[in-house]
Amino acid sequence: MTGLRRSPRAGAFLSIAGKQLVDDARDAPAAVARRFSDVGRARRCANIAELRAAARRAIPGPVFDFIDGAAGDEVTSSRNRDEFNALELRPRFLRDVSNVSLTTTVLGEPVACPVIGAPHGAGLLFHPDAEVGVARALHEAGTIYVVSSMASQSLEEVARRAPGPKWIQMYMWRDRGLTRELIARARATQGFRALVFTVDTPRVGARERDVRNGFTLPPRITMRALASGCVHPRWSLRFMRSPEIGLANVRARERGDSLSLNQYARIAFDAAVTWRDVAWLREQWPGPIVLKGILTAQDGEKAAEAGVDGIVVSNHGGRQLDHSPPAVRALPEVLDAVGDQLEVLVDGGIRRGTDVAKVIALGARACMVGRPMLYGLAAAGQAGAGRAIAILRDELELTMTLLGCTSIRELDTSYVASIGCWPPPHLGPNAR
Ligand code: FNR
Repeated sequence: MTGLRRSPRAGAFLSIAGKQLVDDARDAPAAVARRFSDVGRARRCANIAELRAAARRAIPGPVFDFIDGAAGDEVTSSRNRDEFNALELRPRFLRDVSNVSLTTTVLGEPVACPVIGAPHGAGLLFHPDAEVGVARALHEAGTIYVVSSMASQSLEEVARRAPGPKWIQMYMWRDRGLTRELIARARATQGFRALVFTVDTPRVGARERDVRNGFTLPPRITMRALASGCVHPRWSLRFMRSPEIGLANVRARERGDSLSLNQYARIAFDAAVTWRDVAWLREQWPGPIVLKGILTAQDGEKAAEAGVDGIVVSNHGGRQLDHSPPAVRALPEVLDAVGDQLEVLVDGGIRRGTDVAKVIALGARACMVGRPMLYGLAAAGQAGAGRAIAILRDELELTMTLLGCTSIRELDTSYVASIGCWPPPHLGPNAR
């Protein structure tokens, strides 16, 4: 040891190591706090797949399955992803990409990036930050959140605590009075610019993970739920402190026993809804209307005839009709039919900035993300939701830089191709 100290190299090494140990010891309490805090947990996730893994660790299996699961054999859900992987990006080089801008507008609203938060219910079940946390995370990132009519926090509470730009999402209730009342509440509340009517849910799809798990809202406390709760003590403590988790916006009229979403939708949603009701919605809502769930050129044309302002090409993340087309595959067909008449958005399977670049290059105005925000929320509350949108934003910025594109406007079909095939057959004759 004395010999070591005498050697100048070893002496320098010991001094650096000693200093490092002292610094680490000083930082230890903060490091422990970081390790177990939402912010720390969020920061450690490098991509959406890691946020998903963190969510899986943080919440009971049936709750994770409610977010992650889809209908039937989950074919559409997995093909949403496969289809992105079957598209390649075609970079151009030697262009000045020192400044890349992701800004654009969606229905006239300026956004910092073309990714907006898809509507979802049950936020309080995932984390007490709930819908307000997701909304705040998106607002901090300079973009829009779509509040679901099935949210676990009321639209008034979300608006009060997250005053940034929001749209309101509706289903069509059999009780038109309830639909009318919800629309009137959204109109009376500051911040809701557009109304999104989800057309793909006359009934709820067969989400078999939820059936297997006996998933209901409010959640039923079964032996299995208790066992699952015991291995997720942090989630369980929060759950016990949480207000009743259910449908905050339709509570007054629809209060009752715990129901599966399928049972609820059968009782409450109007399966007889038609295009005539879109005209009825127009009378109720003076602002922009967006139809969510369009998958064919035929329905795109009907939407344009109905005079709506936008559509979301969406299969509800594969949660409704299994074997319906992957959203990114349906997109060019719908764009060809109506892309010049209304704004076309898309969702389903977007997990990477490269996916965002692909849908924008194909012609979408913007995209929505559902599960990425919910994995983030479940893993680490608002900080996790913030991490999800930051990851997508940063990945998109890097993708555009490496593609040689400095603005969203520049991204066109020349930047994307089906694997091994050019021009891609599904891009149609306009592909350059
Ligand atoms: C949803 N989605 C949804 N859509 C809608 O119009 N109203 C709603 O209340 C809900 N609720 C909901 C809950 C949960 C847990 C999930 C995962 C999804 C569908 C959502 O808005 C969106 O279409 C999909 O999530 C998009 O697919 P990705 O991004 O999740 O792959």
